[in-house]
Amino acid sequence: MKPQVTYNGLTFEPYITREQISERIQQLAREVERDSQGQVPLLVCVLNGAALFATDLFRNLDIDAEIAFIRLKSYEGTSTTGTVKTLMGLTEDIKDRTVILIEDIIDTGTTIHGLLKQLEPQGAQSIKVATLLFKPDSLKCDVKPDYVGFEIPSKFIVGYGLDLDGLGRNLNDIYVLKQ
Ligand code: IMP
Ligand code: MG
Repeated sequence: MKPQVTYNGLTFEPYITREQISERIQQLAREVERDSQGQVPLLVCVLNGAALFATDLFRNLDIDAEIAFIRLKSYEGTSTTGTVKTLMGLTEDIKDRTVILIEDIIDTGTTIHGLLKQLEPQGAQSIKVATLLFKPDSLKCDVKPDYVGFEIPSKFIVGYGLDLDGLGRNLNDIYVLKQ
């Protein structure tokens, strides 16, 4: 683990190690297996941020499972509209499926709330939400993730898929913005 990393003039310090991430993902995989009860869950990875978390969770599952990818962008206007733009949509039929949406982080909840609203009419048997990181103090929408890797304070972080302007995603550990 690096003692610190700097992107665009901002310095970040170590926060969650790769060992902690790996151990937590294995625990989450056991929870998903237990909850699946013979169903074949469809993991829907929200790109780009969740790519690493989703694939690590997926390959730790010791049951039949499928994975699909979507790409979203939440509008960041002057007011929080809850509008989510789909850059790459879901082609899989989710009717009667056990769906688990995989996010890197839930901050205001705008992205995941918008996605749930989009998918709800499509007749899935259930739609759950898994997020590696959750900032409960930032939440502005009515969403409650079913699987949470780590609850964290409302601080900006990078690493393990999370970025600052595209950078930092390939760090294997998670770093927090230095005050
Ligand atoms: P939300 O829609 O406000 O919940 O924000 C979700 C998206 O904002 C995430 O999928 C991330 O792409 C981004 N985001 C929120 N917090 C952070 C952070 O601390 N670091 C990097 N990206 C973040
Ligand atoms: Mg994201």
